[in-house]
Amino acid sequence: MQLLDGKKAGQAIRDEIRLQVAQRLAEGKKQPHLAAILIGHNGASATYVGAKVKACEEAGIHSTLLHYESDLPEHELLEKIESLNNDTEVDGILVQLPLPKQIRETAVIHAIDPKKDVDGFHPVNQGLLMQGQPGFIPATPYGIILLLKQYGVETAGKEAVVIGRSNIVGRPMSVLLSQPGETGNCTVTLCHSKTKNLAEHIRRADIVVAALGQPEFVKADMIKPGSIVIDVGITRVENPSKKSGFELKGDVDFSSVAPLCSWITPVPGGVGPMTIAALLQNTLQACLQKDL
Ligand code: GUN
Repeated sequence: MQLLDGKKAGQAIRDEIRLQVAQRLAEGKKQPHLAAILIGHNGASATYVGAKVKACEEAGIHSTLLHYESDLPEHELLEKIESLNNDTEVDGILVQLPLPKQIRETAVIHAIDPKKDVDGFHPVNQGLLMQGQPGFIPATPYGIILLLKQYGVETAGKEAVVIGRSNIVGRPMSVLLSQPGETGNCTVTLCHSKTKNLAEHIRRADIVVAALGQPEFVKADMIKPGSIVIDVGITRVENPSKKSGFELKGDVDFSSVAPLCSWITPVPGGVGPMTIAALLQNTLQACLQKDL
């Protein structure tokens, strides 16, 4: 078993971005700028946004964090997004999900200028992805692709099973793995909550991407020996013995599954850091595209 170390691979990408940003600044070009919007007081969301903003600063990317109360009316958020769309200083806009119930996720995603949509959630970017054309790819699946590339993992001709059909992870992941190219050419099965005989599908897979959000769902008896396992899950599970009062659990029962795999991502330190690296890559890309 070999670890797909997202912390290490993510750091290598972030170091490369830092060099590219420094080079831009030395040439007198504009510093990339990410505007991140956080609404309310969800602990996990605050942690994720904090990590994204910190990673930006370390890479030399300017970031602005806009934090609003959870009763923010939808129209005020849409107005803010509109002003960020029109702000030539801002290259990338990110609205952390989930949103409070008075705000429609679709309205927010549609309001972001596709050229600044570094999360890759806008239908224009999702459509470009479907067609295999350049656009912003959602950070989690993009990060997984970068991780597979970094470790030279062969995917062509393999059976891939993606568990979870969200627009953020599962669905774009299934598209990327089935595309022609270095980290594609898989035969993909997209499983979800209504899939019959889920364990049987997983047992057939050479590559498993677990993104269902159920801690330790994937067990050793579901895994074909030698398979590649990517764990997207990151659930906070109560644990009074921890200082924070919780621990992070993936969707894969790592201790029993890992010995069977050829490659596996740990949680934490696997997909999470790659998601951040991919977001920075998208933000740099958004800035570079303005130079053209
Ligand atoms: N919530 C969970 N994952 C994400 C993500 O990748 N981007 C945003 N904006 N919100 C999220």
